[in-house]
Amino acid sequence: MVEDQVLLEDWIVACRSEDVQEKPIQVVLMGERLAIFRNSKGVHAFKDLCIHRGAALSLGEVKNDCLVCPYHAWEYDDSGACVHIPQLPEGRAIPKKAKASSYSCIEKYGLIWVNFAGNEPEIFDYKPMADNSYHNVIWGPQEVVAKPPRIIENFLDVGHLAVVHVGALGTETHREVMDYKVTKDGDRIFSDEIAIFQPDPDGSGIPKYVYYTYEIHRPFTVSFTKRDKENDTLMTILLTVRPIDGERSVAYGILSFNYETGLSDEAIIKFQDEIFAQDKPIVENQKPEELPLDLQVELSLVCDRMSIAYRQYLKELGVELGTA
Ligand code: FES
Ligand code: CO
Repeated sequence: MVEDQVLLEDWIVACRSEDVQEKPIQVVLMGERLAIFRNSKGVHAFKDLCIHRGAALSLGEVKNDCLVCPYHAWEYDDSGACVHIPQLPEGRAIPKKAKASSYSCIEKYGLIWVNFAGNEPEIFDYKPMADNSYHNVIWGPQEVVAKPPRIIENFLDVGHLAVVHVGALGTETHREVMDYKVTKDGDRIFSDEIAIFQPDPDGSGIPKYVYYTYEIHRPFTVSFTKRDKENDTLMTILLTVRPIDGERSVAYGILSFNYETGLSDEAIIKFQDEIFAQDKPIVENQKPEELPLDLQVELSLVCDRMSIAYRQYLKELGVELGTA
């Protein structure tokens, strides 16, 4: 397992809710292979390893609320205790050591989250999902050969919108970024509204300014809200990243709209995929792969305030995975 105490004590996204139906699935999270399964009580995450002969439990099935090993059909209940061994002669006790290691696992915001340390902290608050006026669309998974902090920082980067996403999220004539503040208020770290001139932000074909507010929720979970002042509408995109191992990550998102977009969920996802595909080669080729937390390394501009705030946040928390 990739050790990082801060992350081990956090909830890290494992997969989408819809990925876990009747069959268990394998998810690699921070180098640990997990078997994630669903029974009548909810979702559960085990180390993907049967203590009998090391088979991957994720290849098994769920029967009578138990996870059944694919190799010799030992049955584990959702606490990880082995409750049936078909090979044992009748009357023989199940060995005490017959257990699967289980981790804390919850389902929230259309995603499944794992907490390795078992401290089960409160999960961050994502308001659009608790608000009926929003339509929410789950986006991802998108695998990236990069460490999470580079992916997260790219999402918080205002300056690249009119370059990497020119024609979609910015225009070449409006690359200048006006100065803005980043505020730290208790647990919340967020930017002012930043004016961004976009070619067609509301589908009417007319270019205009929209206003982005960025927010840091957790080391690998951030969001921005786009406000269209004319139409009085809000769109929030939350990005959360699963580290697979030291090299690769998987990005997931929640796209939330408090207005009728006129688009199908498929079209919304496709647009986001296209935007992400523009960022991917940039992020996969940044050096060093680790996000430098020493502010003397790399050269920041005033418009990079949000990135700087993110680096300081990781530094203060003591996050190590993917930082240098
Ligand atoms: Fe799992 Fe034998 S390896 S029951
Ligand atoms: Co981008």
